Amino acid sequence: MKKIGIYIHIPFCRQKCGYCDFYSTRWNDYDEKKFTEAVISEIKSYNDKLNGNCIADTIYFGGGTPSIVNPENLSRIMENLHQTIEIDDYPEISMEANPNTLTVEKLKAYREIGINRISVGIQSLNDKILKKIGRIHNSNEAIDSINMCKQTGFKNINADVMFNIPGQSIKDVESTLSKIIRTGIRHISFYSLKLENGTPMYDLEKNGKITMPDENLEREMYYEGRSLMEKNNIFQYEISNFAESGFECRHNLKYWNQEEYIGIGPSAHSFLNSIRYSNSQNLYLYCENSFKGIFERIIEEELDKDDLMIEYIMLQLRLTEGLNAEDFKKKFSTDFKETYKMQINYLVKNDLLEINDNFVRLTKKGMDISNYVIEEFM
Ligand SMILES: C[S@@+](CC[C@H](N)C(=O)[O-])C[C@H]1O[C@@H](n2cnc3c(N)ncnc32)[C@H](O)[C@@H]1O
Ligand code: SF4
Repeated sequence: MKKIGIYIHIPFCRQKCGYCDFYSTRWNDYDEKKFTEAVISEIKSYNDKLNGNCIADTIYFGGGTPSIVNPENLSRIMENLHQTIEIDDYPEISMEANPNTLTVEKLKAYREIGINRISVGIQSLNDKILKKIGRIHNSNEAIDSINMCKQTGFKNINADVMFNIPGQSIKDVESTLSKIIRTGIRHISFYSLKLENGTPMYDLEKNGKITMPDENLEREMYYEGRSLMEKNNIFQYEISNFAESGFECRHNLKYWNQEEYIGIGPSAHSFLNSIRYSNSQNLYLYCENSFKGIFERIIEEELDKDDLMIEYIMLQLRLTEGLNAEDFKKKFSTDFKETYKMQINYLVKNDLLEINDNFVRLTKKGMDISNYVIEEFM
């Protein structure tokens, strides 16, 4: 039986944040009900496709804002997953949440459904910044939401934090991380804000209304944040992810280990049988098609062995542990160090890559210019 992950995209938010280009529309009860039925229909469509030879050991409700959905609907989705796909005895079941949408009652219901990991979008604990980037909560509500998760028995909690925000200082970043760490959290995703074309903040910057921090300040925020977390035993395991040992996100590790997963819902991506495909990014079309039994899956890439090898190197080098040459040999019947001898020598000489026994990993310098390092292998 091969182990797979399941990603379910919840395409609703109460209000769109100024920087975000994840696919979501404004929530309403009617669309939520329709969406739930459409998702159930898509889950059932996998009955034949998986042929009873897969077992799901991670499930991830991402978004959008999964915590906006009525727990009863999440429960129906979970029931249908259990009926269609074999689920591991000890799965990791994560859910993303916006602080403004969480209540003790909802959190209790999530635990009953089997959700055992909550990822809360905190972003910053500076109220001015929260307002500027269009968040619907303030810093007190953000901290309260983490405490509520703890109170209701969640042990595996993540906070999303962003740095590189216009007007943000290193002190802001440190103060946000310190307060979050004090809650006893086990995992922090630490993202550098990237302005995506088509978002309101992108236009503001283009029109000179806001200014992004310069490159040096961006790196300083990253270094200071990383060292503060590591001093508090929250260790880096991926470029943007930090966790207490044993609390790394099993679902996201599947992406970096090039393991298979299926994505359910509009805009969700899948990787199955060496094919990367995605669902259409339109809630109404998705629902309409799903009720007719049509699942428009856009094939993005069919990867041959060479593509898979390059992609694997790219993904594994994101992890601080790096790439294990023995695993590479088992997976591709190819000797990594021999095949890429020239590139490895050049990168090691320039202090961008380091080798430790069987592991090949980026140095701290290499991590700063990881795209350049990866290009060398291409
Ligand atoms: C789907 S959201 C998380 C859950 C929930 N929707 C929320 O925002 O509270 C995923 C995370 O991606 C990060 N993110 C979104 N857009 C980003 C951007 N343009 N640059 C960097 N990080 C971004 C944010 O930290 C956000 O919490
Ligand atoms: S960051 Fe989260 S809450 Fe904000 S628009 Fe994106 S998905 Fe929605």
